[in-house]
Amino acid sequence: MNITVTLKIAKRLMESNGEAVSGQQLADEFGISRTAIWKHIKELEEKGYDIESVKRKGYRIVTAPDTLEPLGIQTGLKTKRIGQEIEYVESCASTQIIAHQLAQEGAQDGTVVLTETQTAGRGRMARKWDSAAKKGVWMSIILRPAVAPQKAPQFTLVTAVAIVRAIEEVTKLQPKIKWPNDILLNGKKCTGILTELQSDADGIQALIIGIGLNVNQEKEDFDREVQDIATSLKMASGETVNRQKLVQSVLFYMELYTQMYIDEGFGMLKILWESYSTTIGQPVRARMTNQTLEGIAEGITEEGVLQLRTSDGKLHGIYSADIEM
Ligand code: BTN
Repeated sequence: MNITVTLKIAKRLMESNGEAVSGQQLADEFGISRTAIWKHIKELEEKGYDIESVKRKGYRIVTAPDTLEPLGIQTGLKTKRIGQEIEYVESCASTQIIAHQLAQEGAQDGTVVLTETQTAGRGRMARKWDSAAKKGVWMSIILRPAVAPQKAPQFTLVTAVAIVRAIEEVTKLQPKIKWPNDILLNGKKCTGILTELQSDADGIQALIIGIGLNVNQEKEDFDREVQDIATSLKMASGETVNRQKLVQSVLFYMELYTQMYIDEGFGMLKILWESYSTTIGQPVRARMTNQTLEGIAEGITEEGVLQLRTSDGKLHGIYSADIEM
């Protein structure tokens, strides 16, 4: 069975906006027999698509399954680069590990790694990342931007803006960003971003952007130690969220905003980031490896560095820290 044709048939049916498409029409469009079309329809049904066969009219998709398999994600995906290549595994230690490996083997810019569950999901500062099966989006995106390595940290901020836009689009929620990479709903974390770099003397070889998005968990789906600080889109909205739509939207905004950053710099994105930020203008405590500073977070620089003014009037540039508010 040619899975690419199955994918294209699913896409064709999804794009007919609930109208049935006849077997003959599909056969003509794809240059295959009606029996072959019927086999592809059976393949889609096996993958969890609910397809209605309307007498004398043809096939109509009633519902598509909410898995993160490439078939569902790429059907209706509105990007040109990001997500054209998807590596999907039902379970893995960490999508970051797979993405690093693929990048080393030459994976193309925009390759996405997706899984339903991770056994060793990792967060910033070597923390564990809780990745409940089929309840969230656990994904790593490989980018190969032609920019200097010192521009890598801003990709975390650009990613945060893309995720906030996607959550706003798919749900009615209005998330906030806590510098540098936490996305919050009602003060609790619903998303984390982990940006890792492969570089050499020639510059960035690959950026591996890991995204952990808590989507449909209930409180008890989280490890006990994070239950009071973590939340999911479902917990915040009271509604189950379609993970496929969410991934499609995240990939769309990732492509839009990373391209904007590469072409035009951080200016517009800095304004967007600050408009979503919960940190700016607030008193915060920044815990770093060697010291802790308290003060007012005044803004971020063009490089994405947090500007913290302490009570003695000094302005400090914070490159990496845990922020408490
Ligand atoms: C953080 O807030 O500390 C960052 C969390 C990043 C988690 C994601 S889930 C997908 C990818 N694979 C991992 O092992 N980590 C990232």
